[in-house]
Amino acid sequence: MSAKVSIIGAGMTGATTAHWLSEREIADIVLVDVIEGLPQGKALDLQEAMPVIGKDVKITGSNAYEVTEKSDIVVITAGLPRKPGMSREDLLAANADIVRNATEETVKRSPNAIFIVLTNPLDTMAYLTMKVGKLPPERVIGQAGILDSTRMRAFVSMELGVSVENIQCYVLGGHGDEMVPLTRHSNVAGVPLTKILPAERLTAIVDRTRKGGGEIVNLLKTGSAFYAPSAAIVQMVEAILKNKHLIVPASAFMRGEYGLKDIFFGAPVQLGRKGIEKVIEYELNDEEKAALQKSAKGVAESIALLKL
Ligand code: APR
Repeated sequence: MSAKVSIIGAGMTGATTAHWLSEREIADIVLVDVIEGLPQGKALDLQEAMPVIGKDVKITGSNAYEVTEKSDIVVITAGLPRKPGMSREDLLAANADIVRNATEETVKRSPNAIFIVLTNPLDTMAYLTMKVGKLPPERVIGQAGILDSTRMRAFVSMELGVSVENIQCYVLGGHGDEMVPLTRHSNVAGVPLTKILPAERLTAIVDRTRKGGGEIVNLLKTGSAFYAPSAAIVQMVEAILKNKHLIVPASAFMRGEYGLKDIFFGAPVQLGRKGIEKVIEYELNDEEKAALQKSAKGVAESIALLKL
């Protein structure tokens, strides 16, 4: 196989990413983790599943970074997940050290790779990866927007009994409770949500979307969501490797878009083989603009804590 994707962190999200990705048969997969035996065991188990699902994918697990050499894409999921009552920001200090190390170890072995960052607090960790790795902004993408948007799509589908395929939702902003679900732009087969759902139902869906990560954390009690986050990563990996020019919401480095600079922030981006090809700007009304500014303020404060 010509493409290689290395996943740092072989926990719930990392291993499930490998699982979804192996089914696509688009890249060989490497799993790296600090826990001895864990990446090796999960990689071997998944490798042994390949004959059953009929996919010729090589899956390697290791505690050392040598195996990541010449990766096309590096996915960083290493870190500590949220515990109940813990905000994503509480994770900052611990996860910054982990992401810094993962970036340094992978960049030197795959200097041309595209980095997809998942570790929380997401926008801040993506910023850290770009700075530590001295990477061009188009090669660092935070995974959050597809996840937040797919949650909203799922809730709309459950509410209306309409196929998920007919539902498009766009959630912008930071990956925190201040994220901005755009109800005017979100639609069911082209009809805006604001025209289909009564205001109070729409408000309830927006609220549930904002708290979607916390809802799963509270149910699981140990660990946080991993199926939907990893499915979102794989959609991004596929868009990049197949040079699809796919527009998805994701966290990107802002250079004046939406009036924002020097932060990673959730916006629609076009993904292709070079990474982010374009950040797309929606026309927003005053209320939406104010919500985005509020969300951006939170992200900027979190990034400031990195003291880079
Ligand atoms: N290098 C490599 N792997 C590491 C390191 C490190 N320095 N530190 C921790 N890890 C590994 C852990 O050993 C663990 O296997 O990262 C893995 C994280 O997996 P889980 O604990 O299962 O967490 P997960 O649910 O996958 O979430 C990972 O994604 O959604 C975010 O907030 C979440 O930041 C968290 C990350």
